[in-house]
Amino acid sequence: MTVHKFYALVKAVCENGSWERSLFEVKRMGVSDYAFAVELANRIGWNMVEADFEFASILEPEGCFVLHDGSKRIGVATSVCYGNLGWLGNLAVEENSRRHGAGSLLLRHALDYLRGKGVQTVGLFSYMWLTRYYAQFGFEADVEFAVMHGKPSKPKPSVKVNQVSLEHASSLARFDEAFYHAYRQKLLQAILSRENSFIYACCKDEGILGYVGAKVFGNSTEVGPLVCRLEHANVAFSLLKAVFSRITGEAFVYVPKKEVALIKLLTRLGLRESFSVVRMFLGTRVSETCIYTAESLERG
Ligand SMILES: CC(C)(COP(=O)(O)OP(=O)(O)OC[C@H]1O[C@@H](n2cnc3c(N)ncnc32)[C@H](O)[C@@H]1OP(=O)(O)O)[C@@H](O)C(=O)NCCC(=O)NCCS
Repeated sequence: MTVHKFYALVKAVCENGSWERSLFEVKRMGVSDYAFAVELANRIGWNMVEADFEFASILEPEGCFVLHDGSKRIGVATSVCYGNLGWLGNLAVEENSRRHGAGSLLLRHALDYLRGKGVQTVGLFSYMWLTRYYAQFGFEADVEFAVMHGKPSKPKPSVKVNQVSLEHASSLARFDEAFYHAYRQKLLQAILSRENSFIYACCKDEGILGYVGAKVFGNSTEVGPLVCRLEHANVAFSLLKAVFSRITGEAFVYVPKKEVALIKLLTRLGLRESFSVVRMFLGTRVSETCIYTAESLERG
């Protein structure tokens, strides 16, 4: 019996006073689970497609999980490891299976996985109403992010930006690490390798000033990460404008609420705040020292 099966059994006995509750088992997510994961996510209103879970699995093949209750699949969670920093996302349980420990089991399983990879700090984005839930596992609130969403206008960038090619992934990752304080080469590489995804960067004599990634999923584009030197706000604006002038359909951008100028720009370009999330960390984390937007709510 695995530790997690044992844990579920003990919890079931403690809660119900009997051995009757079925056993939970966490398994690695496979291609045949994507449809289930999408259906579950979209019942919650997350507007996801199979390509989202495919992307998560390419990044961290061993770190994406499905929770089974007997023969039924009832939950999912994904994780990704960037050296010392790990990230948790997509934690979801079927509505009629909630409040029996399934979510906590998945969360603990993903945390154990990340710790096993040597991760010291784990991050996640929490809904406002779930911060106390995550606090039980030791997560502490960091800063609030606005989820900005809408169909942007097509503005002209004022600074020249260039599309980054796959061969420059490692130099971009080193620039990213200097400001984000974790090494995300595999993420940048995955974006650059993916069809319908791209990265723009602005470079001057002094090196890279900033870059932005964009992943197109059907009719919507997830814009980020954006990492730009603090003193070059105009570059950050031009990078976003360059993305918007290329894409069709709607865009999502995840912006720290303290980035007031960025939020103003996005609002001017037609995006609105849909909802807020709180970034939380388990372990010590040095915040990024740059103008920043997140890559996604699943991967920080
Ligand atoms: C969050 C979620 C994964 C928890 O799964 P679960 O199987 O119910 O989790 P557990 O049984 O281990 O823990 C339940 C605890 O979660 C917390 N919780 C769950 N839903 C909550 C809500 N809407 N508001 C506040 N707390 C909530 C409570 O602390 C609850 O404990 P209680 O039953 O003693 O009140 C599940 O509610 C879910 O899928 N929600 C929709 C998707 C989602 O919001 N995911 C999190 C993204 S940040």
